[in-house]
Amino acid sequence: MVTAKIAPSLLSGDFAHLAEECERMLDLGADYLHMDVMDGHFVPNLTLGAPIIKSLRAHTKGFLDCHLMVSKPEQWVDDFASAGADLFCFHYEATEDPTALIEMIRAKGMKVGIAIKPNTPADVVYKFAPALDQVLVMTVEPGFGGQSFMPECMDKVRDLRSRFPELDIEVDGGLAPENIEIAAKAGANVIVAGSSIFNASSPESVISLFRKTIQNVQAVA
Ligand code: DX5
Ligand code: ZN
Repeated sequence: MVTAKIAPSLLSGDFAHLAEECERMLDLGADYLHMDVMDGHFVPNLTLGAPIIKSLRAHTKGFLDCHLMVSKPEQWVDDFASAGADLFCFHYEATEDPTALIEMIRAKGMKVGIAIKPNTPADVVYKFAPALDQVLVMTVEPGFGGQSFMPECMDKVRDLRSRFPELDIEVDGGLAPENIEIAAKAGANVIVAGSSIFNASSPESVISLFRKTIQNVQAVA
């Protein structure tokens, strides 16, 4: 059975104190540190790249779950591997040759994920799933934190979970206490959340609620 993993999105953290924000999230129970890499081309926003991952790597042993919202992700595999990224998740829509890219990422010793945008059907990842560590089903249009969760994306999560019981299925965008049960029941086990964790009066309680909800749903399944 897949285990619950909670991945705070550092996009909602204080970029002037990223290393401290990473350690704070790990201390509060986070499993992964979700790093949103945006290039101003694949998405209309610009965030961070490999140099920041490299700097962070010197300050944290946390699992760096790197979500690349970039065109031509191929060109960043070497840099992210050298920087110390643990997982390289690229967008299906951004590459012409997912198979070659998966092999490149593996050859560099990183875990591999494929992300799909809300309008991309789940079936595009079926044939790659056995070679992946994770599939990321976006629950907002990629580009910005603080958007509303799109429940219609849960059909894709249900479909992927029924086909791939052992696959880590990550959901990203608008996840919050009011919709975690919907995501957990659909079969998501890796939960990315920015606003709902960082803006909470008790981020620790939100992380714990996410984990318990997944575990409870699994226990009755
Ligand atoms: C959006 C990013 C998300 C985002 C999540 O493009 O991929 O990781 O930061 O933030 P919230 O949880 O605020 O939607
Ligand atoms: Zn993300």
